[in-house]
Amino acid sequence: LAQETPIRYDSSRGCWDVFRYEDVQRILKDPQAFSSVRSGAGGENLLFMDPPKHTQMRELVNKAFTPRAVQALALRIQAIADELLDAGSGEELDVVAGYATPLPVIVIAELLGAPAEDRADFKRWSDALVESAEDLTDEAFERINRKRAAVLEELMHYFRALLELRARQPKDDLISALLAARVEGERLTERELISFCILLLAAGNETTTNLITNAVRVLTEQPRLQEELTASPEGVAGFIEEVLRYYPPIVSVGRVAARDVPLGDHTIRAGQQVISWIGTANRDEAKFTEPDRFDLHRKPNVHMSFGFGIHFCLGAPLARLEGKIAVQTLLERYRELRLLPDQAIVPIPSTFVYGVKNYPV
Ligand code: HEM
Repeated sequence: LAQETPIRYDSSRGCWDVFRYEDVQRILKDPQAFSSVRSGAGGENLLFMDPPKHTQMRELVNKAFTPRAVQALALRIQAIADELLDAGSGEELDVVAGYATPLPVIVIAELLGAPAEDRADFKRWSDALVESAEDLTDEAFERINRKRAAVLEELMHYFRALLELRARQPKDDLISALLAARVEGERLTERELISFCILLLAAGNETTTNLITNAVRVLTEQPRLQEELTASPEGVAGFIEEVLRYYPPIVSVGRVAARDVPLGDHTIRAGQQVISWIGTANRDEAKFTEPDRFDLHRKPNVHMSFGFGIHFCLGAPLARLEGKIAVQTLLERYRELRLLPDQAIVPIPSTFVYGVKNYPV
């Protein structure tokens, strides 16, 4: 597709598809022309805002969600990874259920400052937020939407109560930092705070789960990498970057044309939807040499898996750290990781996220 129709209009879906790196970058770089505001999407959600509102809110959350605050979590992430592997049977592990799913959920819950006894609720909530319809019928979508609405309601109550608690008695956690954040005297409203907490659950969990699982997939598909990384653990950060490029947890991001915009030989009309295929851009030969080869030492590795421009993933430092610790810990604890034979590996049915539902090693 990237070669034959790098930019195409799909009338059956009523949207444009853009496949090449350069074009995807052009779209994500220009929020004035390609807006993130979508009708029906939450007005308080950072992901669906344009400047100047986005600029202001991003500055505010940046104050709380700093690379320093994330780095301080390294020891906790390590302890959680060890705990999860200790709890397993030792010989066999479903990477998805036993490791890659609980790890980011527990990390987010702790980062926000939720009490440990609420972890099971967090898992249930974040699963429901990203759950996809089991088929394409209206009933299936309606069922999912009803479940999502109920969970969102529950989450609003939960975070409202937690915010009230921290407003009275701040702690050293993200919720307290968000409550305290000020930019030019402005602060986040209660609705914005709640919606940001919910966004962290929705944006941070399944993506990181898929990063960790996709990393283990690469390790079992190309076992030589296990030897190489065990011998030189400092290479794990580069390995994670290449996993992000090669098997990106998110493969597409959407925008809406704010006005008529020329793109390549086409004109995108105001109001039309545009899907930027970052997963395909990551394999663009014009940008990456031998893009279909997994290259542990690829430099520079300017993949677009965390997006590009003003909406560049806020959680990227956290996701990278979790991915790195998750892989290092597996390599330290197991001499060899192998996919169990005769297993049906079930792909996640989605045109948005890329991952599998189970991965027994
Ligand atoms: C935005 C990917 C993990 C929070 C984004 C975007 C991408 C992305 C592609 C841009 C979307 C767009 O331009 O429309 C990923 C991947 C992850 C990951 C691949 C894991 C490997 C996380 C984590 C968190 C997080 C762990 C938080 C705990 C966010 C937020 C935004 C965002 C808040 C919105 C930023 C904005 O609109 O300014 N992410 N993400 N993400 N991500 Fe992530």
